[in-house]
Amino acid sequence: MASSIQILSSANSSQVECTCKDYGLTTAEFNELHKRSVDAKSTAYCPYSQFRVGAGIMSVDGAYYSGANVENAAYPVGTCAERVAFGKGVTEGHLKFKAVAVATDISPPASPCGMCRQFIREFCDLSIPIIMFDKNDDFIVRRLEELLPLSFGPEALPPPGPRTS
Ligand code: THU
Repeated sequence: MASSIQILSSANSSQVECTCKDYGLTTAEFNELHKRSVDAKSTAYCPYSQFRVGAGIMSVDGAYYSGANVENAAYPVGTCAERVAFGKGVTEGHLKFKAVAVATDISPPASPCGMCRQFIREFCDLSIPIIMFDKNDDFIVRRLEELLPLSFGPEALPPPGPRTS
C-alpha cells in the first residue's frame, strides 16, 4: 500500500497550533523559526547548485540562530544551511537546541541530508522537532529520531577527559 505523507499549512492556524502542542513549542516560537529559515535563504551562497536552503534553530534557553548553505568551487567543501546555523550557535556558547527549521524553494519540503542529521544529533535530544518548509510555506514535521533511527551519539563514548595512553 502506498504511504502518504501529510503536508501541513503554516497558514492554517489549527494545524500550526496542533503542531506546537505536539512538539512543545509556542506559536511565537514556531513563527520565529519559520521566518528565520525562510529569510536565511536569501543569504545562501549557492552559485553551483542554485539551490537555496535556509535554517533556523532555537536553543533550550531561547536563543535563535540562522544559517544558509555556503558552496565552494571544490564542491564537497561546501556546507549545508543546518551546519552553518549550528556552528554559529555552538560557537556562541549554546550547546543544546530544542527545535530546527529548514526552508527550501521546492515542494514538497526537502529534509536535512544525512550528514546534517548526524550533526544535529550532537546538540539535540532525539525528540526535538525538525520542521521542513517548502516554497509555499507548507511544512512537514518529524522528530530527529524519526529522521535518524538507531543513531550514534555522544553518550556512546566515554566521557571526554585527559588521555591516559
Ligand atoms: N543542502 C543544505 O543546505 N541542507 C541540506 O540538508 C541538504 C542540502 C544544500 C547543500 C548544497 O549547497 C545544496 O543544498 C544542494 O545540495
